[in-house]
Amino acid sequence: MHDQPRPRRFLPSAPLRGKIRVPGDKSISHRALMLGALAVGETRASGLLEGEDVLATAAALRACGATIEKNGDTWSIHGVGVGGLLQPQGALDMGNSGTSTRLLMGLFASHAITAVLTGDASLSKRPMGRVIEPLSRMGATFTPSPGGKLPLTMEGLCPAVPIEYRLPVASAQVKSALLLAGLNTPGVTTVIEPVPTRDHSERMLRGFGAELDIEQLGDERIIRLHGEADLRPQTIEVPGDPSSAAFFLVAASIVEGSDLTIENVGLNPTRAGLVDVLRQMGADIAELDPRTVGGEPVADLRVRHARLSGIDADPAIAPSMIDEFPVLFVAAALAHGTTRTSGLEELRVKESDRIAAMAAALAATGAQVEETEDGLIVHGTGGTPLAGTGENAAVVTHLDHRIAMSMAVAGLASREGVAVDDTRPIATSFPTFAELLAGATGSPDAR
Ligand code: S3P
Repeated sequence: MHDQPRPRRFLPSAPLRGKIRVPGDKSISHRALMLGALAVGETRASGLLEGEDVLATAAALRACGATIEKNGDTWSIHGVGVGGLLQPQGALDMGNSGTSTRLLMGLFASHAITAVLTGDASLSKRPMGRVIEPLSRMGATFTPSPGGKLPLTMEGLCPAVPIEYRLPVASAQVKSALLLAGLNTPGVTTVIEPVPTRDHSERMLRGFGAELDIEQLGDERIIRLHGEADLRPQTIEVPGDPSSAAFFLVAASIVEGSDLTIENVGLNPTRAGLVDVLRQMGADIAELDPRTVGGEPVADLRVRHARLSGIDADPAIAPSMIDEFPVLFVAAALAHGTTRTSGLEELRVKESDRIAAMAAALAATGAQVEETEDGLIVHGTGGTPLAGTGENAAVVTHLDHRIAMSMAVAGLASREGVAVDDTRPIATSFPTFAELLAGATGSPDAR
């Protein structure tokens, strides 16, 4: 990341039109690199997200012996085999990435290596106790900073002890950390999920040949992974990231005259909650050419400007759109009537406290918002543009890419534009955001 903050004002916009393609899915990209690094032989991945978070995962895996390089548009990963990770020399910098940190902690927990993990100011505030606790039960030892935070040192154990663990929070990161630890652990590692979270790890583990049983009991899922697995290298096509498409779905919905097609968007049901919620609000989103890419459902999404109405969002939908609430709040701020959200405590421990950050940022643009313990209540303008931010006022993004992009979208539907204090974090997940926005709105790219 550049040393100095990069502020930018996002101005009221012309309609969004044409066709765009968002970069590859961040969650799937991390997993492709990690499982590729554990297979013996060459895994090839196309469409991989080249954002800073994923590059942090690649750098850490290289430090543990994997060979990862880019040839043309394809990434090639030569893995070391399950159990074959080497002792990394020096600290591993996880940057802004919680997914890199938690999943790699799982991977390292069952290898006989010592790792030092560091991160930026945002990541160093985030709780790691949620993975330290179960991974300690498997035999790994941890010396975290106070409060279970980064920087931390960990020592894996080989052979580790298989456990059965019921997730106390709905977290795909915790689930995945345990499954990755289970790969090099004798016996069966069992994870019980009270509510389903994104299942990319399970899908990809199966694709690489791991033995995984999944039992569905009502909402509860019991996942059993048979350890000491041999992974076979794969050819992976990473679909477009629905969490990146989200900014354009909302932008085109709230900017009059828009008619935008976003190609190749991953629509795994554990990720597609925003599309459902926007439709409940009245959004006009059509799924074109539904197909399967890399074992994941994908479609092109055509979104046209529509009259949005406020809703009471069902908290049960939260895990399937956990990263999309910041931009949903922007849609709500422009809707007719009130939108109420609840059950969103997890948003307080993301790259920033996203409830507090969005409440402050939206209020600064003239939106009517009320912050509660576990959500936001947003009173929409009924389609009238937000005022925007004044001359010397910028909204604060707290090193959180999704706050920066959400407020950029708010700027498109404002009178004065919205100034964002720092656009650098956008590169963690969506390096082409500004370029695609400029292309869709026909405006000069003012990165
Ligand atoms: C992710 C899981 C989610 C999500 C994050 C990526 C993943 O976090 O917020 O951006 O790739 O597993 P939690 O599992 O902690 O909710």
